[in-house]
Amino acid sequence: MSTTMKNIPQTWLEEIIRLSIERLVIVDRHGVIVYIDSDYCEFLGTTAEKAIGQLAPDIIENSRMHIVAKTGKEEIEEIQPINGSVMIANRYPIFIDGELVGAMGTVMFPNPENLMHYNHKIQSLVEELNFYKTKAEKELKSKYSFKDLTGNSRNFRGVKAFAERISVSDSSVLLTGESGTGKELFAHAIHNSSLRRNHQFVPINCAAIPEELFESELFGYADGAFTGSKKGGKKGLFEVANNGTVFLDEIGEMPLFMQSKLLRALQEKEIHPVGGQKNIRVDLRVIAATNRDLEKMVEEGSFRQDLYYRLNVIHIEIPALRERKEDIESISNELLMKLGKRFYRTGIELSTEVLNRFHQHSWPGNVRELENVLERAINLLDGNKVELAHLPLYLRDQEVVNFQPEVHVPASPENPLNQAASTPVLTLKETLAQAEKLALQNTLLLTNGNKLEAAKLLGIGKTSFYEKCKLYQL
Ligand SMILES: Nc1ncnc2c1ncn2[C@@H]1O[C@H](COP(=O)(O)OP(=O)(O)OP(=O)(O)O)[C@@H](O)[C@H]1O
Ligand SMILES: [Mg+2]
Repeated sequence: MSTTMKNIPQTWLEEIIRLSIERLVIVDRHGVIVYIDSDYCEFLGTTAEKAIGQLAPDIIENSRMHIVAKTGKEEIEEIQPINGSVMIANRYPIFIDGELVGAMGTVMFPNPENLMHYNHKIQSLVEELNFYKTKAEKELKSKYSFKDLTGNSRNFRGVKAFAERISVSDSSVLLTGESGTGKELFAHAIHNSSLRRNHQFVPINCAAIPEELFESELFGYADGAFTGSKKGGKKGLFEVANNGTVFLDEIGEMPLFMQSKLLRALQEKEIHPVGGQKNIRVDLRVIAATNRDLEKMVEEGSFRQDLYYRLNVIHIEIPALRERKEDIESISNELLMKLGKRFYRTGIELSTEVLNRFHQHSWPGNVRELENVLERAINLLDGNKVELAHLPLYLRDQEVVNFQPEVHVPASPENPLNQAASTPVLTLKETLAQAEKLALQNTLLLTNGNKLEAAKLLGIGKTSFYEKCKLYQL
């Protein structure tokens, strides 16, 4: 301790930290909490006694202290959601005599009056940021072709051959199928074997675009169209996709007002940038995808019939994994090979028990679920064989934890999680994740799969709702 600090009594130090506007946690080299201030504990609903000695991420939601304590790289002014609030976090590595010994983290709590306002402001920024981040990641992602589509079952081969045949046509394609069946992969593959393959393939996730950005994103805007708009205007995605393919993913989530604008653009083959004077001609091929029942949405009036006909010129329905169980083994092997490369492992196999269990499972999240299950297994694996013990609990013991969607009565104090009551002991994180997944599933059932409405009912932003759906393979 420096000479100046020595003059401060130990009892003062705690109070000084408490008075500062930031909350403080200190971890050792392994990310284990060695100090956490009392107000922070109160906010987290824990006590210093319970928190000290635990790994930071087990106590603090979205904590990265263990990472900073390992990398020695500071992280400044990061946004960290904790208990539903957005916090500003700073994380500093602690070096003593040139040696990395741990890390200190602070989070700033906005005061209660400003909390709502602040949260709202940050939340929309975070949503916008996530949206652009996902978009940028997508654009960097490698492109797929038909040879990346694994599956030898009769029905899958049929669908694949049909998709390959219609690739060269310019007609609109509507891809349907449950979540995780490979709609996006098919869209890429169709573009890459079409005559447009040397032009852009532009994926547009209709569920993730904030409503107020829809028009400017798709059609662009002219110089000075609105305050804060970029000088010189901005090209819309439809113009970027000119001569190529535009992939309208999650088309069922497109709001009605945008459906009309989209239809007009497709019919007239022209787009009108926001605040612009003239129309721009575009030559596009449209591939749309959804896991919702568009026909039913048309009946209910939430999807325009004319747009539906325009998109549904060629319809490709991708079969669910449970309808082609004979593909499970080959897809698993393919995925294990890919994952093996990523994790520097080779020769990983599934045990007979695991394969049997895979055959019994209904795979509501389809290939994406299988991919997640295998990635998790590789992380737990010591040898080369994936055993039942490497599977997530819901697959290991399907009788007990069963995630077949059903509408449940609201949680009650006697039985807060209803069906979770009979499950074996899970970590708090797993339990919360289950409850969250269940809440999402039930709300989606209530809204007939309408994600926007479900997000509203649950009181969360649509981007974060959308991300959670991806996480839980809904
Ligand atoms: N036939 C397949 N062979 C190999 N991998 C596949 C196959 N089908 C899907 N996948 C993988 O499964 C994951 C999910 O695929 P994709 O994103 O295309 O699904 P989706 O139908 O668009 O799902 P969602 O409706 O949730 O958006 C991807 O990582 C993809 O690589
Ligand atoms: Mg998709």
